[in-house]
Amino acid sequence: MCGIVGYAGRERCVEVLMEGLKHLEYRGYDSAGLALQIGGEIETIRRVGPLRELSKAIGEANGRFERVGTGIGHTRWATHGRPSEENAHPHLGGDKKVAVVHNGIIENHAELREELEERGFSFNSETDTEVIAHLLAERVEEGDTLREALGAALERLEGSFAVAAVSAKEPGTIVAARNQSPLVVGLGDGENFLASAVQALLGETRKFILVENGEIAVLTSSSVEIFGPDGKEVRREPFGVEWDAEAVELGGYEDYMLKEIHEQPAALQATLAGRLGAEGDVDLSEVDLDLSNVERIVIVACGTAYHAGLLGKNTIERLARIPVEVAIASEYRYSDPIGDEKTLVIAISQSGETTDTLAAIETAHGFGGHVLAITNTRGSLITREADSVLLTKAGPEICVASTKAFLTQVAVLDLLALELARLKKSLLEDELQEIGKSLRLAPEKIQEAIALSEVCMEGAVDVFEDARCALFLGRGVAHPVALEGALKLKEISYLPAEGYPAGEMKHGPIALIDESCPVVAILGEGVLREKTLSNIQETVARGAKIIAVADEGDAEARKIAEVVLPVPKVPEILASLVATVPLQLLAYHVAKERGLDVDKPRNLAKSVTVE
Ligand code: G6P
Repeated sequence: MCGIVGYAGRERCVEVLMEGLKHLEYRGYDSAGLALQIGGEIETIRRVGPLRELSKAIGEANGRFERVGTGIGHTRWATHGRPSEENAHPHLGGDKKVAVVHNGIIENHAELREELEERGFSFNSETDTEVIAHLLAERVEEGDTLREALGAALERLEGSFAVAAVSAKEPGTIVAARNQSPLVVGLGDGENFLASAVQALLGETRKFILVENGEIAVLTSSSVEIFGPDGKEVRREPFGVEWDAEAVELGGYEDYMLKEIHEQPAALQATLAGRLGAEGDVDLSEVDLDLSNVERIVIVACGTAYHAGLLGKNTIERLARIPVEVAIASEYRYSDPIGDEKTLVIAISQSGETTDTLAAIETAHGFGGHVLAITNTRGSLITREADSVLLTKAGPEICVASTKAFLTQVAVLDLLALELARLKKSLLEDELQEIGKSLRLAPEKIQEAIALSEVCMEGAVDVFEDARCALFLGRGVAHPVALEGALKLKEISYLPAEGYPAGEMKHGPIALIDESCPVVAILGEGVLREKTLSNIQETVARGAKIIAVADEGDAEARKIAEVVLPVPKVPEILASLVATVPLQLLAYHVAKERGLDVDKPRNLAKSVTVE
């Protein structure tokens, strides 16, 4: 995780770096720092805690950092070494003439550290990154350019990394390289930029160049050069990004989470547009894979994306009758999985950067499986690793806890299920079109779900006033929804919360129940609603307070629950989507009530680029 930025250009370096870091803070917020070229020297400023601490320190520096032209910055998610100023990036090498920022993990850092210590370097931090700083400094002192020094260092570094460096000897120049971790160059006029993700630079440019594994980028105010591992210059066309700067601003909302929950109708609209016609016909011709002979599907993902995968399994199996396995990517990659060329592996990742999901793709390729990625991030690593890509069009998601990306992932899986069902002829064309037409209602039904839940939130938050934990129960599609609801709550409110199949609850979790363990029951429709209601009665008998997510007209739910979070009546294909919305809002309001930072929950990061 961690975010890196770089700037070479006019005397507004600090402003650009700080703005960039603000938009990368989702990647980590244990500490932040800058290294700046000032008067032939490198100066660093670093602070523990979120970016505002660094901002404060810069403000107190009496204009010291005002007219700087070149520098690099970093926001940290700690891996090696606790969050402290010593461990904060940038790290200085040798006689402090070289500074480095890094995202990723240097796996052979211990060995390199030992070597460097033997050669007289002393270390000031516990980080793996500091070895890079000393490796560069050593070469630069011997007369290498920073680019040459980085080339030599790359031959020694093992692991995943995106690094950027500046040297006091080369004013106005930044060098950078990557292996596995993301890195983009932003192109400006009389200035150039560098960042872990395009979001950091949208206020400055929409023109980007990707840096590939093993390449070195050299930036000055007037030039960007990319060199391949063989040292030869690489010519690469820039790509444009349609997201605009406003998409990464709060736009009047108190937090990104609330903004992103409210953006869900638009995100669904954009995701379905062009893929689902007025007659409910699906067009997924953008998938350049032959889906007609798929015999088995494996979905791999992490976190919230895994929950989308569980819902995808349900829909694909129900509509297309193809067996689907859903695997947590970090388990799958080491599981010696069974598969062949008729296995379709669907890798879901909002960021497109999650290391375990990328590794799971490699594993799938190992047995000849075809990989379809579902991601929200154009140009991300996953788009290059997968054989084909379906983009969710949720727009940038900043809050660490995923909301709109989840709903759009589910919608894309629904489209895929319809397409597979058409190819397999498991349902009649008419039936598929009917379902397709229902899916088209997603944006408006989600809008209704948001409006309905918001009015009942106060009562639900009251139930959580003295809660010490919570149980989320559901059956069928309501089970993954329960898992997602519990994950949202624990991520941002730090309350232990468990999602469980309602019928299984009596085999263990029922022991948790008392009046301080609210039960959130996702009732759904049909026979499973009846069964869930019976299970909920069993918890009521043991003192549980119930919050029910139920149809707005469900009289029985009102009888049994302290609070009903009503959802609009919807066709089956939309049931999981609408039921998720009140749970997102519940987690949001419970966390806010507790005075917590919902966008940046402790210990988490949005994009997990380490194993
Ligand atoms: C982190 C985030 C989650 C996210 C998961 C997978 O844990 O905090 O919100 O669901 O990573 O991320 P991805 O980008 O692969 O969907």
